[in-house]
Amino acid sequence: MRILNDLRKIFVQYLNENLFTQSPKELYEPNNYFLNIGGKRMRPVLVLLGSHLYNKRYEDVLPAAMAIEYFHNFSLIHDDIMDAAPLRRGQATIHEKYNSNTAILSGDALLVYAYKFLSLIPQENLKTILEIFSDTAIEVCEGQQLDMNFETQASVTEDEYIWMIRQKTSVVLAAAIKIGSLIGGASNEDAESLFQYALNLGIAFQIQDDILDCYGNIELVGKQPGGDIIQNKKTLLLIRALNHCQDAGDKTLIDIMNKKYSNSSEKIKDVLNIYEKYQIKNSVEQSKQSYIDKAIAHLDAILLEKEKKDILFQLTEYLVKRDY
Ligand code: IPE
Ligand code: IPE
Ligand code: MG
Ligand code: MG
Ligand code: MG
Repeated sequence: MRILNDLRKIFVQYLNENLFTQSPKELYEPNNYFLNIGGKRMRPVLVLLGSHLYNKRYEDVLPAAMAIEYFHNFSLIHDDIMDAAPLRRGQATIHEKYNSNTAILSGDALLVYAYKFLSLIPQENLKTILEIFSDTAIEVCEGQQLDMNFETQASVTEDEYIWMIRQKTSVVLAAAIKIGSLIGGASNEDAESLFQYALNLGIAFQIQDDILDCYGNIELVGKQPGGDIIQNKKTLLLIRALNHCQDAGDKTLIDIMNKKYSNSSEKIKDVLNIYEKYQIKNSVEQSKQSYIDKAIAHLDAILLEKEKKDILFQLTEYLVKRDY
């Protein structure tokens, strides 16, 4: 764990040295606010780690790490508008604290600054990495659109859900480690195995995010509890519960989803009762584990010394057992 904490510290120092000082402050201050209220910094840590496995010249990868963290925060700022989320990292979201126009524009600026940082990476990597980054960003938009389509789509299969979370979440983690490793000098084969490792890890990560949305401790998670339930998000928990209900000829869950509740905590309680009845949490945890196993299997193909592979095992453990 020490190396992961060290990488996080190196990144956070770089982030703090590069906070926005430009004007107008109404555009930049919300971004400083959002970047400063915390976050696990997983994606930049993955960029730095990708490089660390091959070459420890962090100065070559820090701009790419920054680009990925900026992109991630841009996507969260807009996601919070789309999900009507009031809280993030234990603080008010930008559209709540300021307003939606500010959240749209400050988020846009953050996306453009991500590209400005990306342009600072070593020339020999630039073309390849720009392409990976842009392809990833487009996939996130596609995933986010599917996520919204599914809110009102009556039936969503588990395969459709996995594809949606691959696009909205996993590809960013996968691109982060791939980009870091390529700048660090990894072979294309190793970079691809690391990509596949993080892609599966990312699916487990989003399943854990869905679990925490229902069962997490608000003090740790820092998001509105049950936000996904309130929005009828087609999480793996909801899809699986809907399937159980359909098999049992039980219409209660559909009725709950269609009902207008004046008190959202009532809706959350009603849905959680159904999850309890069909032991959904446990079954979803098992699916999460199957993606962790798939992730780890991809590490076999990478030629790295044991000490370095151990870092990847530690990371796997931390990411999916997290309680925030
Ligand atoms: C939240 O990501 C959005 C998802 C893709 C699940 P994180 O849980 O990494 O958010 P922060 O950056 O640590 O707040
Ligand atoms: C967000 O997924 C994924 C992106 C921001 C691209 P969620 O909507 O589940 O993330 P949280 O729960 O708000 O962090
Ligand atoms: Mg969302
Ligand atoms: Mg959200
Ligand atoms: Mg979520």
